[in-house]
This record gives sequence, structure tokens and C-alpha cells, in this order.
Amino acid sequence: MTTRAGHPHAGTRDEGRPTGEGEGGPAAPVVVEGPPGVPFLGNLPAFGKDPLAFFEELRSRGDFVRWRFGGKPSLFIAHPDAVGELLTEVERTFDQPDLGIAFRTLLGDGVIVSKGADWRRKRSLVQPSVRPKQVRSYAATMSECAVALADRWSDGQRVDVKKEMAALTQLVAVRTIFGVDTAADAEVIGRAMDVAQKEIGAEFSGMGAVLPDWVPTPGRARIRRATAVIDAEVSRVVSQHRDGGSDRPDLLSRLLAARDETGTSLSDQEIRDETVTLYIGGHETTSSTLVWAWYLLSRNPRVREALTEELDRVLADHEPGHDDYASLTYTQAVIKETLRLYPTIWLITGLAKEGATLGGMPVPAGTRVWSSQWATHRDPRWYGDAEAFRPERWIDRDGEPAEEIPEYAWFPFGGGPRVCLGTRFALVEAVLVLAVLARRYHLDVTADEILPVPSLTLQPDRDVLATVRARG
Ligand code: HEM
Repeated sequence: MTTRAGHPHAGTRDEGRPTGEGEGGPAAPVVVEGPPGVPFLGNLPAFGKDPLAFFEELRSRGDFVRWRFGGKPSLFIAHPDAVGELLTEVERTFDQPDLGIAFRTLLGDGVIVSKGADWRRKRSLVQPSVRPKQVRSYAATMSECAVALADRWSDGQRVDVKKEMAALTQLVAVRTIFGVDTAADAEVIGRAMDVAQKEIGAEFSGMGAVLPDWVPTPGRARIRRATAVIDAEVSRVVSQHRDGGSDRPDLLSRLLAARDETGTSLSDQEIRDETVTLYIGGHETTSSTLVWAWYLLSRNPRVREALTEELDRVLADHEPGHDDYASLTYTQAVIKETLRLYPTIWLITGLAKEGATLGGMPVPAGTRVWSSQWATHRDPRWYGDAEAFRPERWIDRDGEPAEEIPEYAWFPFGGGPRVCLGTRFALVEAVLVLAVLARRYHLDVTADEILPVPSLTLQPDRDVLATVRARG
């Protein structure tokens, strides 16, 4: 992917573009004003009512848009170049904002919530456990869990796709991260994680987002109770692993074996924080991606046909495994296009520090800079027929991408130093699960239109009910 000028789908709107080449070098970005807000709250009511529509409205105004999140000065950025700058400068000139008390209760000091030198150390200790070589060893579990689900489904059965995908990705997460095999163990951890995750979502999109940390709320109490259950279970599993050696093919064993440059390993508390972080970072994000993929496939029979043509051709009579991943190019493109239209993480923000700039323009310290995958991924300047589900746009033909899409016009996994640690894990899981299930079944989603609700992740606004149709 390359950044380029004169894109075939480029609109006529030039204001707010970050660096138009003018005489004597690049022009400074033009910052435009967002919609007028209300006293004290600024644009908070419009943002709270419908954040996705609000960001699209800002995008229609320009690439750099000033708005007010309550009393706080905010800058929305739409252009991929500016998004790239924000993502690559995080930790240097932009700070990750505090994710709040709910996250800290559950994730402790895990890599997602930590900063500075502490974050660097943790990231370097966690990273080896999610490298492609390791993901290859988790892939067998991913396929096995999907095959077990496919064996349970039958023609004509009615399923709740959200529930089915959540249960499947939960089993994959619990087995690959904690290495627990019994259904009962998986259920205890899974159930407590569900409670905590649901409450964090409610906190993130509700009053909890604006209440100070010290205010006790019933939701925060529920997160504490669920966290206590998780702590007890994880501590039991960690002791079992320590007793049984760390040569098992699971993430926890990789973390137990990890050493930093001084030869120090992660403490039990750190192991707990990182395993829970990996679970929370990876479970709902991947399961929602699969739900949106089924929804899009159900509405686009032509894409569904192209997908099954590839699955029949590449897999013939075997269940998909890691060795098939590279050959499943159309399946990969279906997931990529799903993440474009329904990016489960739909927002990344950064707090400007002293000396922060974007497109050469100084950004005052304390400004909160907002980028939104939702808004940039649907920008007609970067995507032909931007609202359409067209996996073909991602497929290389004769070594050339079908559409030339700028870097950071697609950033579902973020980018720069804090890019998602589970990118490879998530892509392999989503592709293998889709391949296993779509090889045998179509899912006909009942509802005509399902709208996205932006909570912690982008969720469908209702149950996604579907009829399972066995393929001939
Ligand atoms: C479709 C699935 C997924 C999506 C859309 C997603 C998206 C993201 C995004 C947007 C970030 C933030 C990047 C930034 O701030 O610049 C992130 C961070 C992270 N993700 Fe994922 N993720 C997914 C799956 C996973 C999985 C499966 C795991 C673990 C196995 C995982 C673990 C993490 C971790 C640990 C971080 C924090 C990295 C850091 O702060 O250094 N994610 N993810």
C-alpha cells in the first residue's frame, strides 16, 4: 500500500488536506471548525447520541476539524497521513489516554494500559508469544474448535450468530492462552470474563466514562467481583503450569518462559495481567469481526459464491489448517473488507504532549486528537464505492493491488509502536473459522438491516439470528 496524490476516487474537497504541495514546499494543514456545540458540554451531546454519524459529519468538513469534548479541546483527523503520524508518534509526542478505572481493575498493569519504559518492557516480553511461528502452533486449536462447531450445526437450524461466534472465540482464547482443556475450567474463566467485559463495555459507553474513578457504581462492583473470580482461576492455572513445566503449546507457557534483557521473567502478577489482557484484547474483537462477516456474506450472495469457490478449490476434501492460510487469499480479503466496513475498534485517540505536530502543524499540548477507523475506512477518496462490500479491492492481480489504497486508510489494528499485538492471531483465527464453517454452510441472516452500535467494540444493534443452510 502506498500513499499517493491524485487518487482516482479523490473528491473535490481540498480544504483541510494535510500537505498540499504549494510554492516553496508543503502547505500547512487547514483546520476547520466542527459543528457549533452547546455551552459547557460542547459537542458532547452530538457525539454521545451517535458517535459514528458525528465522526462522519466531521470528516465531511475537512481533514483536521476542531471540536469540543465537554470542556476539552479536541482535534479530529480524517486523512490517512495524519492518522499515520498520530499512530507512529504515540509514546513520543502523543500519550495514550487513560482507559479508566474499569480497565485498570481488570487488566491490572497489562501491556494495553501501561506506558513508557514499563510498556516497552512488557511489550517485548509478550510479543514473542504471538509471533507468526507461535500463531502457527495455536492454529490447530482454532480449526479444531471451529470443526467441532460445524459438526454440531445442521441444515435448517436457527442460530444466534453473536452467541455462536462469542462461544467459539471464547473457547479458542481460553484454550490457546491458558491451555485449559476441560469444558468446566474453560467455562469458569469464560463466564467471569463475560461479566467483566460486559461491564467494561457499559462503563465505556455510559456514565462511567465521565464519572471520576473514586465514584462507586454497581457496574464497577460487578467488575471487581468478576475480577476476583478470574484472579483465583488464573492463579490456579499458573500454578499448574509452573508445576508441570512450561513446554506446553499455549500462550501462558510462552509467557512463563519469557525473559527480558536482564534475564528477569514476568512475576505471577504480571503473568496474570498479560494473560487477561490478551484475552480481553482478542476475544470480543475477533468474535464481532466474524459476526459482521456473516452478516455481510448473507447480504452479498456474489461474494459468498466467490468465497465458497475458493474454499472448494483450495481445500478440496480437507479441513483448513495453518498451511492453507496463505492460499486462502479471497477469504483473507473477505475478513479485511469486513474490518474496513465494520472495524470492531472504531476509534483511537492520543493526547498531545509538548512539541506534538501533525502535518508540520504544532498541536497544543493537552489537545486530544481523535482518529476513527469508521470515518476513514468509509472515505470515498480512498475507496471506490466505499459503502459496498467488495473483497476484490484487496486482491493483487499480477502483483498489483486491484485498488491503490493509502497506508493508514485501513487501520483496524492501529499502527506504529502500539500496533495490535494480536494482529496475526486474529487474522489467522478469523480466516480459519470462516473457512471451516463456510466450506460446509451458508448462514442466512434473518434481519434485513443491522446497525452498528459503537461501544467498546462495534456491536450489532440486535441479536443476529440466522438459518443454517448446509451446502450441497
Ligand atoms: C479483529 C480482532 C482485533 C482487532 C480489530 C484489534 C484491534 C486492536 C487495536 C486497534 C489496538 C490498539 C492499537 C493502538 O493503540 O494503536 C490493539 C491493541 C492490542 N491488541 Fe488487538 N485487536 C484484535 C485482536 C487481538 C488479539 C486476538 C489479541 C491477542 C491475542 C490482541 C491483543 C492486543 C494487545 C495486547 C494490544 C495492546 C498493544 C500495546 O498497547 O502495545 N488483539 N488491538
